[in-house]
Amino acid sequence: MNKRKNIITVAIDSPAAAGAGTQAKFIAKEYNLLYLDTGKIYRLIGKIKLTAGKKFNHSFIKKKISKIKISQLNNTKLISDDIAKCASIVAKDNNIRKLVKKFQLNCAYNPPKKYSGSVLDGRDITSVIMKDAMFKFYITANLKIRAKRRYKEFKKLKKKISYKEVLKSLRKRDYLDKNRKHSPLKKTQDSILINTSKLSKKACFIKIKEIIDNEINT
Ligand code: C5P
Repeated sequence: MNKRKNIITVAIDSPAAAGAGTQAKFIAKEYNLLYLDTGKIYRLIGKIKLTAGKKFNHSFIKKKISKIKISQLNNTKLISDDIAKCASIVAKDNNIRKLVKKFQLNCAYNPPKKYSGSVLDGRDITSVIMKDAMFKFYITANLKIRAKRRYKEFKKLKKKISYKEVLKSLRKRDYLDKNRKHSPLKKTQDSILINTSKLSKKACFIKIKEIIDNEINT
Protein backbone atom coordinates (compact mmCIF):
# COMPACT_ATOMS: atom_id res chain seq x y z
CA MET A 1 0.00 0.00 0.00
CA ASN A 2 1.25 3.48 -0.88
CA LYS A 3 1.49 5.72 2.13
CA ARG A 4 1.31 9.51 2.00
CA LYS A 5 4.60 10.95 3.23
CA ASN A 6 5.12 13.55 5.95
CA ILE A 7 1.72 13.26 7.51
CA ILE A 8 0.82 13.37 11.21
CA THR A 9 -0.51 10.02 12.41
CA VAL A 10 -2.21 9.60 15.77
CA ALA A 11 -3.37 6.23 17.13
CA ILE A 12 -5.61 5.93 20.17
CA ASP A 13 -6.93 2.88 21.99
CA SER A 14 -9.32 2.89 24.90
CA PRO A 15 -12.05 0.93 26.65
CA ALA A 16 -15.60 2.15 25.90
CA ALA A 17 -16.66 5.61 27.10
CA ALA A 18 -13.23 6.67 28.35
CA GLY A 19 -13.34 9.90 26.34
CA ALA A 20 -11.14 8.80 23.43
CA GLY A 21 -13.61 9.96 20.80
CA THR A 22 -13.84 13.44 22.29
CA GLN A 23 -10.07 13.78 22.42
CA ALA A 24 -9.67 12.38 18.90
CA LYS A 25 -12.10 15.02 17.60
CA PHE A 26 -10.16 17.79 19.40
CA ILE A 27 -6.90 16.48 17.94
CA ALA A 28 -8.40 16.27 14.44
CA LYS A 29 -9.62 19.86 14.65
CA GLU A 30 -6.41 21.27 16.10
CA TYR A 31 -4.08 19.61 13.58
CA ASN A 32 -6.41 19.35 10.58
CA LEU A 33 -6.51 15.55 10.57
CA LEU A 34 -9.00 13.05 9.18
CA TYR A 35 -10.81 11.42 12.10
CA LEU A 36 -11.96 7.81 11.97
CA ASP A 37 -13.93 6.36 14.86
CA THR A 38 -13.24 2.70 14.14
CA GLY A 39 -15.76 1.51 16.74
CA LYS A 40 -18.47 2.89 14.48
CA ILE A 41 -17.41 0.47 11.73
CA TYR A 42 -17.96 -2.49 14.06
CA ARG A 43 -21.21 -0.91 15.23
CA LEU A 44 -22.35 -0.59 11.62
CA ILE A 45 -21.50 -4.25 11.02
CA GLY A 46 -23.32 -5.13 14.26
CA LYS A 47 -26.37 -3.22 13.03
CA ILE A 48 -26.22 -4.95 9.65
CA LYS A 49 -26.04 -8.32 11.44
CA LEU A 50 -29.06 -7.45 13.59
CA THR A 51 -31.16 -6.59 10.57
CA ALA A 52 -29.82 -9.13 8.05
CA GLY A 53 -30.53 -12.24 10.14
CA LYS A 54 -29.75 -15.40 8.13
CA LYS A 55 -28.48 -13.44 5.11
CA PHE A 56 -25.42 -12.41 7.19
CA ASN A 57 -22.44 -14.40 5.90
CA HIS A 58 -18.89 -13.69 4.74
CA SER A 59 -19.59 -12.70 1.14
CA PHE A 60 -22.63 -10.63 2.19
CA ILE A 61 -20.66 -8.60 4.73
CA LYS A 62 -17.59 -8.38 2.46
CA LYS A 63 -19.69 -6.59 -0.13
CA LYS A 64 -21.17 -4.24 2.49
CA ILE A 65 -17.77 -3.42 3.99
CA SER A 66 -16.29 -2.67 0.56
CA LYS A 67 -18.92 0.05 0.16
CA ILE A 68 -18.53 1.73 3.59
CA LYS A 69 -18.28 5.54 3.54
CA ILE A 70 -17.15 7.61 6.54
CA SER A 71 -20.37 9.64 6.30
CA GLN A 72 -22.39 6.47 7.12
CA LEU A 73 -20.61 6.26 10.45
CA ASN A 74 -22.16 9.46 11.78
CA ASN A 75 -25.59 7.87 12.04
CA THR A 76 -26.84 8.42 15.64
CA LYS A 77 -28.72 5.12 15.39
CA LEU A 78 -25.36 3.45 15.90
CA ILE A 79 -25.21 4.89 19.43
CA SER A 80 -27.30 2.26 21.16
CA ASP A 81 -26.42 -0.33 23.74
CA ASP A 82 -27.84 -3.23 21.69
CA ILE A 83 -25.73 -2.29 18.71
CA ALA A 84 -22.63 -1.84 20.91
CA LYS A 85 -23.13 -5.37 22.28
CA CYS A 86 -23.51 -6.79 18.80
CA ALA A 87 -20.45 -4.79 17.65
CA SER A 88 -18.26 -6.45 20.23
CA ILE A 89 -19.55 -9.87 19.14
CA VAL A 90 -18.82 -9.33 15.43
CA ALA A 91 -15.46 -7.78 16.40
CA LYS A 92 -14.30 -11.16 17.73
CA ASP A 93 -14.40 -12.58 14.19
CA ASN A 94 -10.97 -12.30 12.63
CA ASN A 95 -12.36 -12.60 9.09
CA ILE A 96 -14.43 -9.49 9.71
CA ARG A 97 -11.45 -7.72 11.28
CA LYS A 98 -9.37 -8.46 8.17
CA LEU A 99 -12.05 -6.94 5.93
CA VAL A 100 -12.21 -3.81 8.08
CA LYS A 101 -8.43 -3.45 8.25
CA LYS A 102 -8.04 -2.36 4.62
CA PHE A 103 -10.52 0.48 5.04
CA GLN A 104 -8.80 1.61 8.24
CA LEU A 105 -5.31 1.52 6.70
CA ASN A 106 -6.46 3.62 3.80
CA CYS A 107 -7.90 6.28 6.13
CA ALA A 108 -4.81 6.16 8.35
CA TYR A 109 -2.12 6.40 5.68
CA ASN A 110 -3.88 7.91 2.68
CA PRO A 111 -6.20 10.56 4.08
CA PRO A 112 -7.54 12.98 1.43
CA LYS A 113 -5.01 15.67 0.46
CA LYS A 114 -6.93 18.41 2.30
CA TYR A 115 -5.90 16.78 5.60
CA SER A 116 -2.46 16.96 7.21
CA GLY A 117 -2.79 13.44 8.51
CA SER A 118 -5.10 11.16 10.44
CA VAL A 119 -6.29 10.22 13.89
CA LEU A 120 -7.95 6.86 14.52
CA ASP A 121 -9.40 5.54 17.75
CA GLY A 122 -10.52 2.03 18.67
CA ARG A 123 -9.26 -1.09 20.42
CA ASP A 124 -6.43 -2.33 18.18
CA ILE A 125 -5.19 0.87 16.59
CA THR A 126 -1.89 1.18 18.50
CA SER A 127 -1.28 -2.58 18.53
CA VAL A 128 -2.31 -3.67 15.00
CA ILE A 129 -3.60 -1.01 12.61
CA MET A 130 -1.10 1.86 13.14
CA LYS A 131 1.83 0.29 14.93
CA ASP A 132 4.14 2.96 13.50
CA ALA A 133 1.95 5.99 14.30
CA MET A 134 3.84 9.15 15.29
CA PHE A 135 1.74 9.41 18.44
CA LYS A 136 0.17 6.57 20.38
CA PHE A 137 -2.17 7.06 23.32
CA TYR A 138 -4.03 4.72 25.62
CA ILE A 139 -6.93 6.63 27.12
CA THR A 140 -8.75 5.12 30.04
CA ALA A 141 -10.92 5.95 33.07
CA ASN A 142 -12.46 4.19 36.01
CA LEU A 143 -15.37 1.89 35.03
CA LYS A 144 -18.02 3.66 37.13
CA ILE A 145 -16.99 7.06 35.81
CA ARG A 146 -17.23 5.76 32.25
CA ALA A 147 -20.64 4.26 32.94
CA LYS A 148 -21.88 7.60 34.34
CA ARG A 149 -20.64 9.45 31.28
CA ARG A 150 -22.21 6.95 28.87
CA TYR A 151 -25.47 7.00 30.85
CA LYS A 152 -25.60 10.81 30.52
CA GLU A 153 -25.05 10.53 26.75
CA PHE A 154 -27.91 8.03 26.47
CA LYS A 155 -30.17 10.34 28.53
CA LYS A 156 -29.41 13.22 26.17
CA LEU A 157 -30.38 11.03 23.23
CA LYS A 158 -33.54 9.98 25.12
CA LYS A 159 -32.52 6.29 25.11
CA LYS A 160 -34.36 4.15 27.65
CA ILE A 161 -31.67 2.50 29.74
CA SER A 162 -30.75 2.57 33.44
CA TYR A 163 -27.35 3.42 34.91
CA LYS A 164 -27.07 -0.17 36.21
CA GLU A 165 -27.64 -1.62 32.74
CA VAL A 166 -25.00 0.70 31.26
CA LEU A 167 -22.52 -0.32 33.95
CA LYS A 168 -23.18 -4.01 33.39
CA SER A 169 -22.89 -3.66 29.64
CA LEU A 170 -19.59 -1.73 29.79
CA ARG A 171 -18.14 -4.27 32.23
CA LYS A 172 -19.07 -7.10 29.88
CA ARG A 173 -17.72 -5.30 26.81
CA ASP A 174 -14.43 -4.52 28.62
CA TYR A 175 -14.08 -8.20 29.37
CA LEU A 176 -14.86 -9.32 25.81
CA ASP A 177 -12.61 -6.70 24.22
CA LYS A 178 -9.64 -7.40 26.52
CA ASN A 179 -9.87 -11.18 26.47
CA ARG A 180 -10.68 -12.05 22.88
CA LYS A 181 -8.22 -14.05 20.81
CA HIS A 182 -7.73 -11.61 17.93
CA SER A 183 -6.62 -8.01 18.41
CA PRO A 184 -7.58 -7.69 22.09
CA LEU A 185 -7.58 -4.28 23.71
CA LYS A 186 -4.30 -3.67 25.49
CA LYS A 187 -1.95 -0.83 26.22
CA THR A 188 1.16 -1.18 24.09
CA GLN A 189 4.46 -0.32 25.75
CA ASP A 190 5.02 2.63 23.47
CA SER A 191 1.59 4.22 24.10
CA ILE A 192 1.23 7.15 26.47
CA LEU A 193 -1.29 6.45 29.22
CA ILE A 194 -3.89 9.14 29.85
CA ASN A 195 -6.34 8.51 32.67
CA THR A 196 -9.32 10.82 32.25
CA SER A 197 -11.12 9.83 35.50
CA LYS A 198 -10.27 13.08 37.23
CA LEU A 199 -9.55 15.23 34.20
CA SER A 200 -11.92 17.56 32.40
CA LYS A 201 -12.12 17.21 28.60
CA LYS A 202 -10.13 20.43 28.29
CA ALA A 203 -7.45 19.46 30.83
CA CYS A 204 -7.03 16.17 29.05
CA PHE A 205 -6.63 17.84 25.68
CA ILE A 206 -4.06 20.31 27.07
CA LYS A 207 -1.96 17.30 28.13
CA ILE A 208 -2.23 15.65 24.72
CA LYS A 209 -1.55 18.88 22.83
CA GLU A 210 1.58 19.48 24.87
CA ILE A 211 2.88 16.05 23.91
CA ILE A 212 2.12 16.52 20.21
CA ASP A 213 3.40 20.11 20.03
CA ASN A 214 6.58 19.14 21.78
CA GLU A 215 7.35 16.62 19.05
CA ILE A 216 6.23 18.47 15.94
CA ASN A 217 7.76 21.82 16.91
CA THR A 218 11.26 20.46 17.50
O1 C5P B 1 -15.67 2.30 20.46
P1 C5P B 1 -17.03 1.65 20.44
O2 C5P B 1 -17.62 1.49 21.80
O3 C5P B 1 -17.97 2.32 19.49
O4 C5P B 1 -16.76 0.19 19.84
C1 C5P B 1 -17.76 -0.78 19.75
C2 C5P B 1 -17.12 -2.16 19.78
O5 C5P B 1 -16.40 -2.37 18.56
C3 C5P B 1 -16.09 -2.39 20.87
O6 C5P B 1 -16.66 -2.81 22.09
C4 C5P B 1 -15.19 -3.44 20.27
O7 C5P B 1 -15.67 -4.73 20.50
C5 C5P B 1 -15.25 -3.17 18.79
N1 C5P B 1 -14.06 -2.50 18.29
C6 C5P B 1 -12.96 -3.27 17.97
N2 C5P B 1 -11.87 -2.70 17.41
C7 C5P B 1 -11.82 -1.39 17.19
C8 C5P B 1 -12.91 -0.57 17.53
C9 C5P B 1 -14.02 -1.16 18.11
O8 C5P B 1 -12.98 -4.49 18.18
N3 C5P B 1 -10.73 -0.87 16.61
